[in-house]
Amino acid sequence: MSKKIVVLTGAGISAESGLKTFRGNNGLWENEPIDIVATPEGYAKERIRVKNFYNKLRTTLKNFQPNNAHFALARLEESLLENFLLITQNVDDLHERAGSKRLLHMHGELLKLRCENNPEHIFDFNGNETESTHCPICSASTRPHIVWFGEMPLYMQEIELALKECEIFAYIGTSSVVYPAAGFKSIAHSHRAHVTCLNLEIPNFDPHTDTFIQGNASEIVPKWVDSLLG
Ligand code: APR
Repeated sequence: MSKKIVVLTGAGISAESGLKTFRGNNGLWENEPIDIVATPEGYAKERIRVKNFYNKLRTTLKNFQPNNAHFALARLEESLLENFLLITQNVDDLHERAGSKRLLHMHGELLKLRCENNPEHIFDFNGNETESTHCPICSASTRPHIVWFGEMPLYMQEIELALKECEIFAYIGTSSVVYPAAGFKSIAHSHRAHVTCLNLEIPNFDPHTDTFIQGNASEIVPKWVDSLLG
């Protein structure tokens, strides 16, 4: 099979691994207000609180394991190689631990920090970030390498090109309410891709989606991958 396939994942794919999703928790992410822990304004007001929030998520990430949906997407990549691209809104490393390599974290990564002097300085980090954590390249202060509301998601040029060239686009475990990710299905669809939604909740109708598959990701994603690989 040489069809180009692009997949977008959201928090729902990691839900069965035990990681909380974002919506449906009264505007809280892991019991903290999103406007504090997921906005530049919140970070400017409460740097230490925000750093500690991500420290907790980062240092407990190893307690969570990839589920069969993550493994199924790694299997799809193994079969399609350069004809496959996985874009995730998630900042966890469950896709990597399941074996995915052709992966773009458009909202950043928990296991990385970013220099506050030069945003190109991004480095691996798996501990507790404090105010005495410094950029290993220029010694400036650091921040979590997370894209907050109002900030530009990463890899957008590469993503837009892939969306225009793919024959199949699937979005998995995402509420499709946060742009630009929520708009990816219409870009792909307007470039003649077949668009499939795999999600626990299915919208009544979506003009940019051809196929809806409802259920838990760990069940429906492996079946969907099997149907593609034949
Ligand atoms: N299997 C499949 N889908 C699931 C499962 C599951 N087990 N559990 C939940 N879902 C679905 C929910 O029905 C919902 O549609 O996953 C989706 C999760 O939606 P959100 O919590 O809004 O997460 P997401 O779409 O990834 O949020 C996008 O918003 O908060 C920001 O930057 C943050 O990346 C995040 C972005």
